[in-house]
Amino acid sequence: MVSDSYLWWRHGVFYQIYPRSFMDSNGDGVGDLQGIIDRLDYLVELGVDAIWISPIFASPMADFGYDVSDYKGIHPMFGDMATFDRLLSEAHRRGLRIVLDYVPNHSSAEHPWFIESRSSRDNPKREWYIWKDGKSDGGPPNNWESIFGGQAWEWDATTRQYYLHLFLPEQPDLNWRNPQVVQAMHEVLRFWLDKGVDGFRMDAVMLCMKHPDFPDNPPVQDQSAWKRIGLTLEPVYTVNRPEIHPMLRAFRQLLDQYDGDRVMIGETWLFELDELVEYYGGELDEFHIPFNFLGTVQPWESGALQAAISAYYNALPTGAAPNFVFGNHDVHRMATRFGAEHHRSAGMLLLTLKGTPTLYYADELGMQDVDIPPARCVDPWGLNAPDLNIGRDPQRTPMQWDRSPNAGFSPAGIDTWLPVAADYGKVNVAVQRNDPESTLQFYKALLKLRRELPALHRGSFAFVDQTTPGVMAYLREADGRRLLIIINFESKEQQVDYSLLGKTGKLLLSTRFVSPTEVSMSALTLRPCESLLIQLMAHVK
Ligand code: GLC
Repeated sequence: MVSDSYLWWRHGVFYQIYPRSFMDSNGDGVGDLQGIIDRLDYLVELGVDAIWISPIFASPMADFGYDVSDYKGIHPMFGDMATFDRLLSEAHRRGLRIVLDYVPNHSSAEHPWFIESRSSRDNPKREWYIWKDGKSDGGPPNNWESIFGGQAWEWDATTRQYYLHLFLPEQPDLNWRNPQVVQAMHEVLRFWLDKGVDGFRMDAVMLCMKHPDFPDNPPVQDQSAWKRIGLTLEPVYTVNRPEIHPMLRAFRQLLDQYDGDRVMIGETWLFELDELVEYYGGELDEFHIPFNFLGTVQPWESGALQAAISAYYNALPTGAAPNFVFGNHDVHRMATRFGAEHHRSAGMLLLTLKGTPTLYYADELGMQDVDIPPARCVDPWGLNAPDLNIGRDPQRTPMQWDRSPNAGFSPAGIDTWLPVAADYGKVNVAVQRNDPESTLQFYKALLKLRRELPALHRGSFAFVDQTTPGVMAYLREADGRRLLIIINFESKEQQVDYSLLGKTGKLLLSTRFVSPTEVSMSALTLRPCESLLIQLMAHVK
């Protein structure tokens, strides 16, 4: 029985679908909405609560949907509005929530708003985007850089001014200081909320407000996360400006007018914790879930991870809901980053920490990054910066459903938009469904326990001090039930003694699969890279 106090976005599990790569129902090599509908039962079987779908809107696809040309229209490649409506009702009928991507920082250059805006300097939509004169020498108005590389200003020969694009030139930045933009973009939220969507993941929101005086950005700092993605300037005047917070509070007020616990999730790439937690809002009146990306940058190392997790919990404002992301469409897959042998342990950590986890499609199969031959690379960021290992194609390849050609994603003989991984004959849903010791079965068992045991989805959390290097252990507790999770980060067997927590325990799940059994807490053997989930039998004062 799931407890009454199960709030879907706080205690449940999100599953991100990259729609181009989930399921191709019409044989054009690209995933679509009907494909998602066809696989909803799989998601129920897996045991997740909510799906976040990356953009499905009309788009020229310069950034694969993150360049929207109609915020209220579905791209024909994905289907039509009737298919979307069916997806929503079919998901809801199965108890699954649907969260959409909302891309407020920029539209596509082919959005009618921008086409009007660039048509003349006195067009009524001119101020919907950010236009500036060049410097006296004709150069760009300031030194701002695009996140995807190169300068952030594009010269427009017709109206003889520059427009700002913090991503591709095909993604002009909207002017959020213009109340008409605010109103139009609020209407977009209302449009989807009225249809019944359960919330939004808000894309690149930290960039929406630029410094009003447009000062030059200073050189990037040595330790800066921005340096790692190739920026040469610290984006202090373009990212994370204080004016963003009133804008977010207005979004939240809008969402709160709707019933049904709609959720507001933010793409908040911030590793300074005091900055990150500001995105909950002083009165917890901004994001319910400002994404916590520490699990996408930390190495698989127990001490460093434990320190990062502790610091995160300690930084949270009272009442704020923690969350963890270990993978998404912008970072290399967790099985590749952490190592295939640690993949299940990383899943154990993600799904037993205190906080809302977001899984990335196919992580439940242990899918790895796929090597993409240069001729098949399509990600504009990767193509702009080939030496930085930031191309995003490897983590966006088709879902592996079965061992038929094209992994059951597209019919045989079709060229899929990105290549299917070579290992699809072994790593796929159909094979893993029939293998009781597969990674899929491990995830299913873990998700089931997480849902059934209040200690896991809403219990307290405490690390257990212990001295075995390379081992992390923590307790989750609710309603008098205590669970101990132990993770062996080492590739060697380790003996651990947790007799201070009780004499015996019941082993509920191991990454290496053993049937539930009673274990002695004083002499636990952890096999290489193994993690255990143990129910403790008795309290010790
Ligand atoms: C976000 C998205 C990313 C996209 C960028 C521009 O970071 O997650 O995929 O390229 O915004 O919209």
